[in-house]
Amino acid sequence: MASSPLDNLAEQTAQLLATVAALGSIDQLRDDEPMITGKRSFLSTLQKSLGVLAPEDRKDAGARLQEARRTVEAALEGRRDELTRAARLRQLEVDRMDLGDVVVGAVRWPATVGHPSLVAVTQRELEDVFVAMGFTVSEGPEVESDWYNFEALNIPPAHPARGMWDTFYVELGEPETVVLRTHTSPTQIHLMESAVARDSLPIHAVMPGRCYRRDTPDARHLAAFHQVEGLVVDHHIAFSDLAGVIETFTRAYFGPDIESRLRPAFFPFTEPSAEFEVTCTICRGEGCRTCSQTGWIELGGCGMLDPAVLDAVGIDGDEWSGFAFGFGIDRCAQMRHQIADMRALVENDARFLRQFS
Ligand code: PHE
Repeated sequence: MASSPLDNLAEQTAQLLATVAALGSIDQLRDDEPMITGKRSFLSTLQKSLGVLAPEDRKDAGARLQEARRTVEAALEGRRDELTRAARLRQLEVDRMDLGDVVVGAVRWPATVGHPSLVAVTQRELEDVFVAMGFTVSEGPEVESDWYNFEALNIPPAHPARGMWDTFYVELGEPETVVLRTHTSPTQIHLMESAVARDSLPIHAVMPGRCYRRDTPDARHLAAFHQVEGLVVDHHIAFSDLAGVIETFTRAYFGPDIESRLRPAFFPFTEPSAEFEVTCTICRGEGCRTCSQTGWIELGGCGMLDPAVLDAVGIDGDEWSGFAFGFGIDRCAQMRHQIADMRALVENDARFLRQFS
């Protein structure tokens, strides 16, 4: 019988099947696939050589070759499934969380006890810094009337400055009269009102708490976030007092390695106003995704109390002056702990949270 290109088909097919079975990874499979079933495979070479056969033999040879190809292709797909599944299992193993760590059980007690979130810890640390500087700590409500959140802060209805705060409204009373506070500044108003009522000026206070804005969360923003407000109302307060407090705070909280700067800004309730920024700790000022390539992260705003605000609460602006500031607590945590994406703070990934226990 004349020799045919398909004489060794059975052996060659068996060899290919062995090659397929020995593929050790998806990457290797992808690399070797052209040699197994692709253009560079002997199956394809054989296909082309069928032309040398007598026409009456060609049909049968073609069918055998087709059969061999189907077998090899099926084996290759089977191996691809196996390798994909194995890779996925390995990944799951890497990502696996030991639920024993999070499920409270008698045996692991007290390792199973939770811990305050990084934001709560940061708030406490910030309070400590300010208490050490002579400030008291107060809190205010998260749901405010329009008057406290805006009007008393010299932001009248429909004023363009309202665009600085995308606001969540609460369905209570007249439409758009009750808000989730967009900043902690309304707590300044509560504090000044009660100081006037009790005749207890001066005020040196910080006011931490949760705020809300209709912002799309990103590396630096959450729709529910935290601020700490500061308020000083006293005699003969100057901008240098404000700058001194900010500088002292930055050194105390971030240490000497972090640079801060004040940049002229606008807020309706302070005049002059400034933005308070620190060097981005993710890129050390080089520019990165977290700081939008600027090298700086804005922590908050500050400025000298606008006389219109003192007026709104009935404080005599000829006798008293003061300053206010408001920082993001989450931002402080983010910069101090170099958290590239702030959303990690609320994603509840135990591996992230554990770092701060
Ligand atoms: N309330 C301002 C904000 O959240 C920050 C600020 C507070 C500015 C106090 C000046 C004085 O945008």
